[in-house]
Amino acid sequence: MKKIEDIDFERLTRDDLIWLLQRENSNELQYLYDRAYETKLKYVGNKVYLRGLIEISNICSKDCYYCGVRRSNAHVRRFMMSKDEIIKAAKWAWEKKYASLALQSGERSDTDFVEFITDILREINRFSNGSMGITLSVGEQSEKAYRLWREAGAKRFLLRIETSNPELYKKIHPADHSFEERLASLALLRKTGYQVGTGVMIGLPGQTFEDLADDIIFFKKQDIDMIGMGPWLPHHDTPLGVQYPQIDQKKQLEMGIKMIALVRLYLKDVNIAATTALQAIDPFGREQGLKAGANVIMPVITENEHRGDYLLYDGKPVSDESAEGFRQALQNSVSGIGEEIGFGLQGNSRHWQKRTGA
Ligand code: 5AD
Repeated sequence: MKKIEDIDFERLTRDDLIWLLQRENSNELQYLYDRAYETKLKYVGNKVYLRGLIEISNICSKDCYYCGVRRSNAHVRRFMMSKDEIIKAAKWAWEKKYASLALQSGERSDTDFVEFITDILREINRFSNGSMGITLSVGEQSEKAYRLWREAGAKRFLLRIETSNPELYKKIHPADHSFEERLASLALLRKTGYQVGTGVMIGLPGQTFEDLADDIIFFKKQDIDMIGMGPWLPHHDTPLGVQYPQIDQKKQLEMGIKMIALVRLYLKDVNIAATTALQAIDPFGREQGLKAGANVIMPVITENEHRGDYLLYDGKPVSDESAEGFRQALQNSVSGIGEEIGFGLQGNSRHWQKRTGA
C-alpha cells in the first residue's frame, strides 16, 4: 500500500496528484497541508497580501450554466457602480494600505465599458502615483482592450479557465462559449504584459480527480503567475444548480483546500488566493486555505446597496468587509494562525518577478 510519507513532494507526478486528491483520512490530509505550508514559507514567505475586491457590475453578456449572474437569470437586479463610487472604494483601500485592488465585473466588451474601465484605471493611478497593484477580472476581451488597460495601469489580470478539460467546459457553458477562445485570451494576456492569473472551479458535477490533477498540470504548462480557484457551489437560479441542488459542502471545502495545497507544492512560487467560496462554506475557510499554502485574500470592500446582487452562488457572504469590525476580525484571525498581513506591499507574484526579472 502506498504511504504518504514515501511521496517525493518536491517532484510530484500526475499519479501522485491524483492519489493525493483522493485522500480523506485526516492525518494524511494534515500531512499534505503541512508539506504545502512549508513550501509556501520557503518560496513566498508568511505574508498574506490583501486585494481589495470591488464588484463593479453584475451586467454580463455570458450565460454560464453555473453562475448566478448569468445573462438569462431574470431574477437578478442588475447594477453598475458609478465612477465616483469605485474611486471612493479604491481610495479607501489605498488609505488602509491594501496596496492592491481587484476590479471585477460581469463580462462586457462594448466600447463604453472599455472606456469606462480605462478611465477608472487612469484615475486610480493618478491618485496613487502608479503604485497601486491593480488586478482586472472582467472576462475575455480584445487584444486592443488588454493593451489599452495595461497602458492605463492595470498590472494583473485574472481569467479563470474554469476547467482545463474541454469536454467538461462544453458541458457547463452554452455552445457559443469557446474553450479555445478562453485559451487564446490567456495567451494574449501573457503577450500584452500582465501578471496572468487563472483558476478553476473545484467539485463540479462530472469532474474527476484526473481532471483536477490535469488542471494543476495545466497551470504549470501555461506558466501561470497567480491562481484563484474555489469550490463550485450551486446557485438556485442556474441550470447546474437546479440539476444538482444538493452537494456535500464539507467535501467541497476539503477539495478546495486540497487543491490549494497541491498547487502550492506543484507550482511553488505563484500567488494563490484563498477565495470567497471557501469562506461561504466555513467562516474560517480562507484561514484554512492560508494554512494549506494560499497567500492572498481578497476581501470585498464595496459597501453599497448592490452587495446582495453580486451572488454567483447561494450562500455567498454579503457582510461588508470594509467595516471596521470585519477588518479587525480578519487581522486577528490572520495573526492567530501565525501569518502577517502585508500592509503597504503590492505582493507581486514571485513567479512573475523571476520570469521577467522585475
Ligand atoms: N460556484 C463557484 N464559483 C462560481 N463562479 C461563478 N459561478 C460560481 C459558482 N456557482 C466563479 C467562476 C467565475 C468567477 C467570477 O466566479 O469561476 O470565473
